[in-house]
Amino acid sequence: MLFRQLFDHASSTYTYLVADEETREAALIDAVREQVERDVELLAELDLTLVYALETHVHADHVTASGLLRERLGAETVLSAAAGAGCPDRLVEDGEVLRLGRLEIEARHTPGHTDGDVTYVVRDGGRPLAAFTGDTMLIRGCGRTDFQQGDAERLYDSVHRRIFSLPDETPIYPGHDYRGFTSSTVGEEKRLNRRLREDIGRAAFVQIMENLDLAQPKQIHVAVPANLRCGIERPPEGVVEVSEEWVREHAEGLRLVDVREADELRGPLGAMPGAEHHPLATLPAALGAPDERTVVVFCRSGGRSARAAERLAEAGFTRVVSMAGGMTRWNALGYPAIGGGAARSPAECG
Ligand SMILES: [Fe+2]
Repeated sequence: MLFRQLFDHASSTYTYLVADEETREAALIDAVREQVERDVELLAELDLTLVYALETHVHADHVTASGLLRERLGAETVLSAAAGAGCPDRLVEDGEVLRLGRLEIEARHTPGHTDGDVTYVVRDGGRPLAAFTGDTMLIRGCGRTDFQQGDAERLYDSVHRRIFSLPDETPIYPGHDYRGFTSSTVGEEKRLNRRLREDIGRAAFVQIMENLDLAQPKQIHVAVPANLRCGIERPPEGVVEVSEEWVREHAEGLRLVDVREADELRGPLGAMPGAEHHPLATLPAALGAPDERTVVVFCRSGGRSARAAERLAEAGFTRVVSMAGGMTRWNALGYPAIGGGAARSPAECG
């Protein structure tokens, strides 16, 4: 395995480069948007082809480079199916395995810091070479559980059942370090992690997490919505975006079109009152002929609706706009939704 640990000073984020030395196929884990030039240059210098841009979770403290890496290098962007983002090419489920030459990358769902945390376990011939734990477990510590969909009990179970179950000698590479440490091992953390070592029980851990009293990350309101869109914030050329606030205010005279799949309307984000439902694949035909109303297309987080707006414009709809933050932000603002509930939105909690 070819391996590099890279660092972004502004956010104390580690980015990892993992590659198969023979096929030269590579993956970047948690690439940072501000460092995209460095990473692209390094890949070229090492003669590597970027196959995957992997995310351990939807970050609150920096914006991902994954969308840019997809645009520039054709990499597939990968995130947990539980993360609630519409932009990635591949939404991985627990246990799914990606391949890079002879290397296998297992995506282990390890929620608790957010809903969609993944620990990537890299293996060669069955032997674990490294576990990339994101913010689920840090060296001697762990990620926060007080925003996004943080849940201390879930994090405890993820670490004890899904990370500590790896062989003790497995190297651990975290998503961040604030003190200058670079790696650890499963065995070392079982003994020495200040919050999660084996002699600390679940209740004691929850108490530790409840009493941290930390300030919110500075970038949270920028980073989370941007990361739900793979770090690409501009809509495709020619697509006009409008805010949820604007749609709510002008709803009367608008034609509201939800382009999500049917099962998503029954999911935690619910459905928008007064909207029609036509999945992206059925557009433009399902809308019939344009009338005098402005068409507002929307989806979960703004990715598919931007594509829908593009398609409708091509089909002759002259008044069509995309609602930028989708039902995710609609819910975050507390606007009415039919069904749903239990939606803990990124905007309100990180
Ligand atoms: Fe995080």
